[in-house]
Amino acid sequence: MLHTGVHLTGRERTFPPDEIIVSKTDPKGRLTYVNDVFLEVAGYTEAELIGKSHSVIRHPAMPRTVFRRLWDTIRGGREIFAYVNNRAKCGDHYWVLAHITPNLAADGGVAGYHSSRRSPRRAVLDVVGPLYDRLRAAELQAGDGAAGMAAGARLLDDILAGEGVSYEEFVLGL
Ligand SMILES: Cc1cc2nc3c(=O)[nH]c(=O)nc-3n(C[C@H](O)[C@H](O)[C@H](O)COP(=O)(O)O)c2cc1C
Repeated sequence: MLHTGVHLTGRERTFPPDEIIVSKTDPKGRLTYVNDVFLEVAGYTEAELIGKSHSVIRHPAMPRTVFRRLWDTIRGGREIFAYVNNRAKCGDHYWVLAHITPNLAADGGVAGYHSSRRSPRRAVLDVVGPLYDRLRAAELQAGDGAAGMAAGARLLDDILAGEGVSYEEFVLGL
């Protein structure tokens, strides 16, 4: 049981495989656009989200290591694929496979970010769920601050090295 201060129901929400959850952010990760599927699945109104940090839907069980890797990649101007467990407003959770890309300005800087998300295949979650639980446990055990982040990153790197694959190969090979 996580004691995190945010309300969780333990109920999972899913969305149809032909629907795509879309959001866009400014360079700091504040929401500038959400589509109707986002609103429906996350259970917020547009007014509740625009201008807010994308972390408004962060689920406390998500490893910080994943978000660190996400930000390091997109800040560097590159795309990333990531499985993410999100928290709906009511406390339900929903898994997505996100593809996040930077929008580059004419001067080459990052003007903002764009994420499109599909519903993941169930079999993949049987792998990702336990992996994320391990990462999050390692983070919390090390203190959940910078030390936790370092511990999570080390464990993820060890797991990838053990499989002999890069992060991208691992995610896309699931
Ligand atoms: C385009 C874009 C999409 C994002 N999508 C999500 C998301 O679906 N769920 C989430 O928890 N964080 C998402 N993030 C990451 C958040 O900005 C944030 O880093 C994360 O929720 C962890 O919160 P923290 O950085 O405050 O620890 C996204 C970031 C960007 C730039």
